[in-house]
Amino acid sequence: QAALPEGYVLRALRRDDHASGFLDCLRVLTTVGDVTEEGFQQQFDTMEKQGGYYLIVIEDTSLTENSVVATGALIVERKFIHNLGAVGHIEDIAVARNQQGKKLGLRLIQALDFVADKVGCYKSILDCSEANEGFYIKCGFRRAGLQMAHYY
Ligand code: ACO
Repeated sequence: QAALPEGYVLRALRRDDHASGFLDCLRVLTTVGDVTEEGFQQQFDTMEKQGGYYLIVIEDTSLTENSVVATGALIVERKFIHNLGAVGHIEDIAVARNQQGKKLGLRLIQALDFVADKVGCYKSILDCSEANEGFYIKCGFRRAGLQMAHYY
């Protein structure tokens, strides 16, 4: 695995990341809404209590504000099949628009893959648009199956 660019660090999301740029990162992906600091911390605590959530960020330490410039998540689903196995779900991969193309996305996926393997997942899966297929192929994924959705 190659290194991050100089001055960039990869770390776990923290409870004090409400105003770190993390939520702005996610805005490249979809609607985030108005998330208060209290709401952010409650959700963080819920995820921590539940377990199996691995949220990571990449920080550009040269920036004095909004230094979180990329984020991604792995959610581990425990199973009875495959000898009490586990499946990793890769979710909410987002790199700030002005930071794309620096291999940050690839580093996020490599880090999440490492965690998934380490915690015993036999595979990791994700959903993406056709436009992002090439990115995930570069990350070692291949097209498998068909997604279906039921919205409420
Ligand atoms: N199509 C084809 N190839 C791509 C694409 C793409 N859309 N995006 C990047 N690549 C290639 C790069 O050219 C690079 O190839 P190389 O090694 O030959 O140079 C390789 O993939 C790695 O690219 P990175 O620099 O790591 O990509 P980046 O840091 O820009 O992150 C990402 C890619 C995550 C798709 C980013 O552009 C982004 O945040 N987009 C908006 C949000 C989004 O769509 N997120 C994914 C949602 S799907 C999900 O979350 C499961």
